[in-house]
Amino acid sequence: MRTIAHISDLHFGTEDKPVAEGLLKDIKEKNPSLVVVSGDLTQRARTGQFKDAKEYLDRLEFPKVIVPGNHDIPLFDIIRRFFSPLTRYKKYITDDLTPFYKDEEIAILGLNTARSFTWKNGRISEEQMQEIKEKLCPLKMRLIEILVIHHQFIPAPDNKNVALVGRASKALEVIDECGIDLVLAGHLHEGFTGDIQTYHPGRRSIIIAQAGTAISQRRRDDPNSYNFITIKDNLIHIEIRKWNGNMFEKSEDVTYRKTDNKWVMEAAADLAHNE
Ligand SMILES: [Fe+2]
Ligand SMILES: [Fe+2]
Repeated sequence: MRTIAHISDLHFGTEDKPVAEGLLKDIKEKNPSLVVVSGDLTQRARTGQFKDAKEYLDRLEFPKVIVPGNHDIPLFDIIRRFFSPLTRYKKYITDDLTPFYKDEEIAILGLNTARSFTWKNGRISEEQMQEIKEKLCPLKMRLIEILVIHHQFIPAPDNKNVALVGRASKALEVIDECGIDLVLAGHLHEGFTGDIQTYHPGRRSIIIAQAGTAISQRRRDDPNSYNFITIKDNLIHIEIRKWNGNMFEKSEDVTYRKTDNKWVMEAAADLAHNE
């Protein structure tokens, strides 16, 4: 069994301090196998914001897979935006823009979808699709394969018109072919889960978990939240944990079971019932 605390859109510079402390406490208590951070660590990619993000993430003493988001590239500082977009991210957070984690049960590949030109919507490049093929295709059917990006492959349930990550449909061909089971992303500041098949009928089922903003005050209508994911044999259980004004607590959850190489949603149930 593996457990993942999937946090996103921290936006240091706009962080809500009590929520930030509450998140640390909750994650430490839940003691995950690893922490995934799906981008937007800072609000404006400033040095001080990256330093704060780094200090904060260091307090989470778990293996981590981190990718940048569009806010980790400067927006208004045009010189930096186009000539050294991720210099500060690489200096303070990690210089690895294709983080890869693998153990006996899961494999996780992180990709940077943030771009200087398509600042808001991001993009996946041909090289990154090749990276997916090289790292994840050989593991098909042997491990649970997870891809981490910042931008979305599917729209939010209440905003079907939102732009998807650039080259989404081409990248979907690759993640389909390589047997990816789960895609973790953020950017929309709305926590929800879904299946690619809902939007692309006929395609193999691929589960998507979008995390809300974990600690930022840039909330949409939703409170701060993160996903706690449990992977066990042929089950993936995703629990959205939301801030209730005092602490993070379980809000909603969903379980997918892999049957005949297909992920099928089960009625909401605690994974403990399946043990
Ligand atoms: Fe964000
Ligand atoms: Fe974003």
